[in-house]
This record gives sequence, C-alpha cells and structure tokens, in this order.
Amino acid sequence: MTILGIETSCDETALALLETREKSGVFECRVINSLVHSQAELHSAYGGVYPNLAKREHQKNLKPLLEKLLIPIYGNDFMEKKTDIDLIAVTEGPGLEPALWTGIVFAQKLSSKWHIPVIPVNHMEGHIVGSLLESDTPQGSWQRLKYLPLPAIALLISGGHTELVKINSIGDYEIVGQTLDDAVGEAFDKVARLLGLPYPGGPHISLLADQARDLNIQSQAKLPRPMLNSKNLDFSFSGLKTAVLYAVKKTQENNNFTEEYKKGLALEFEQAVSDVLDLKLRNAVQKYNSLSIIIGGGVSANRLLRQTFEKTANEFGIPLFLPSRHISGDNALMIAIAGALHDKSSYSTELCAHGTKRLSVK
Ligand code: KG4
Ligand code: ZN
Repeated sequence: MTILGIETSCDETALALLETREKSGVFECRVINSLVHSQAELHSAYGGVYPNLAKREHQKNLKPLLEKLLIPIYGNDFMEKKTDIDLIAVTEGPGLEPALWTGIVFAQKLSSKWHIPVIPVNHMEGHIVGSLLESDTPQGSWQRLKYLPLPAIALLISGGHTELVKINSIGDYEIVGQTLDDAVGEAFDKVARLLGLPYPGGPHISLLADQARDLNIQSQAKLPRPMLNSKNLDFSFSGLKTAVLYAVKKTQENNNFTEEYKKGLALEFEQAVSDVLDLKLRNAVQKYNSLSIIIGGGVSANRLLRQTFEKTANEFGIPLFLPSRHISGDNALMIAIAGALHDKSSYSTELCAHGTKRLSVK
C-alpha cells in the first residue's frame, strides 16, 4: 500500500509518501520521502503561532510541496494520471482549527480526484507511532517498527499538549494525566519570550541552559515544581511561567538582568520542568506496571529531558522509545504511519476538524 500523509495542525506544512507491506504477518514500511515546510520564522514576529497566518501559509505551501514530493516519482502530470497511491492519511486534530481544515480540504480534493479513501489521524497518535521508527534506517529501505512491550506509557510533550497516555495496544489509548493549563512547549516558548529569545523558544532555552552547565553558572532564582506532590498524574506549568515572570521583573528592577542571570534562570527552568515530568512519568510507569516508555512531541528534542528519561527507563529496566531528532517535531511521516496502522473500517471521507479533540479513548 502507498500512503500520502498530510499534516497541517500547527505551523508546519508537511507531506510524506510511505509504502507499507505485511511480511510474515508483521507490518513493514518504507519511507519514500518526507517534506516539512516550517513557518516558524513568520510566526516568530508574533511570539507564537497566529492561526490565520498558519492557515494562509498552509494554503500557499501545500500544492508546491505536493509537486516537490510527487513530480520526481510520477512526473509533471501526476495529478491527472492514476498513481499507485492507495490512501491519504490526514491530521484531523488536535490542532488549530483553521490550519487543520486546510489539510483536510486538500486531502478531500485529492481523494475525489484520485478516487481513493482518506483516513483521519489523531496528531498525538502520530507522535506515538513516530517514536517507533528506527532512526538509522536509510530512506527507501524497508523497516519494521520497533517492538513495543505493552502496556506502555507515553509522555507526549509538545507546544499544545502535555499528556501521559496508557497504551493498551496501538489504537487503544487512555489519557491518565494531562496539563491543567499550559502545555510544556508553550511554557518553554513563553519563558523564552520573557528572556527576550525568539519563537519557538524551546531550543533557545535549552542552549542557554547548556551554556550555564558548561560554565558552571548557578541560578540565582529558585523556581517551583508545580504539582510535584499531587496525588494524580496531572501537570500545571502556568505557575512556573509566572514565577519566571516575577523573577525577571525583580531582577530588571535591580538592574541585574544580565546574560549570566538569564543562563542561570534557563537552567533552573529546564530543571524544574524535567523534575516534574520525570516524577509523573515514574509514577505512571509504576501505577500501570508499564513495560515500556514512549516519548513524543517537539519538546522531546530537549537534551536534558532525553538524558533524564533514559536514566528513568534504565532504573525501571524497561525500554525507552524516543523519536529521532529529525522527526521529533511535526511531520507527515508519523501521520502516514498512524493511518497505515489503522483498521480499514475507520476509512472515511466524512472528515471534520477537531480543533480541541484529544487522543481518542477506546
Ligand atoms: O510537536 P511540536 O513540533 O508541535 C506541536 O504539536 O505543538 O512541538 C513544538 C514545541 C515548541 O513549543 C518548541 O519550543 C518545543 O516543541 N521544542 C523544545 C525543543 N525543541 C522544540 N522545547 C524544549 N527543548 C527543545 N530542544
Ligand atoms: Zn506535534
């Protein structure tokens, strides 16, 4: 089966072409190509993603990206002829509704032109299955997804979500913890803004924190670890962001808002996030006797977090699945894989955008 993946839930316009087959009853896939056009620079002027700008950019970029993906394979007239694409997988949510619709409408048009079905995919499920891809398989080679001992706990950390998900099987998910306010990526982005760093702020905070570690700079401020001692598996990051705001204000009043201060604060913020995520992850693994851990979402690119979760998985003696860095952010490859793994019965051309929809619970 050949699958076209489409992802437009936030500020990345992404398309991917994936081939799948079943060999001795096992799912195998081959990445033909995966393209991502990031709008981050455009949104950076607004300090965050501006939904209508994202929509306009997706509308502008989808067709040229499709040509870039398909012309080398099927030629200039790919639109008019019968390609071997069997299925379109498109993100239906969660995400920004105007942005999601752009991808969905594009998928529907291609579907009626080529007479092939469209399957709606949950973006967060995409992040889960994306972490099961081998990182070192060359593009174009067949690969099996990594074997996932179940039940598993997934920690999904992105710009819009922070969730702990219990995975009973692929397609059968249960959200067991989530943020009550800001997502962790959102907290990174907001704190970056307070420190005068550009959007998306995560990588910039991480860089400052690394510098602080290298230079042995200590933070002058102590930040809270919100909900660390709460009995449940939920998170809250808005208080942490407010604590940074107060620390910054106070330091500015004292004319002490130096580069060294910023580095120390970035370090303390990153450590506070890591402490909270790690403890809740440990609690979830213990509570559900999880046999493996999956980390997904853009924030999983963070070096300290990757090291921390590796240590945790080692201590529990269970495998950890991290996305390779080039697919830790939003991409359409993960959407194509999630679509391919779905039961054929969920194929649908009746799509609607679920701007706020969370991972479906079976
Ligand atoms: O999954 P993603 O690409 O998009 C959403 O679905 O939201 O996640 C984007 C988020 C942004 O908030 C960005 O600041 C954050 O991931 N991020 C990081 C790092 N790289 C990206 N956060 C912390 N450390 C990083 N190295
Ligand atoms: Zn994402």
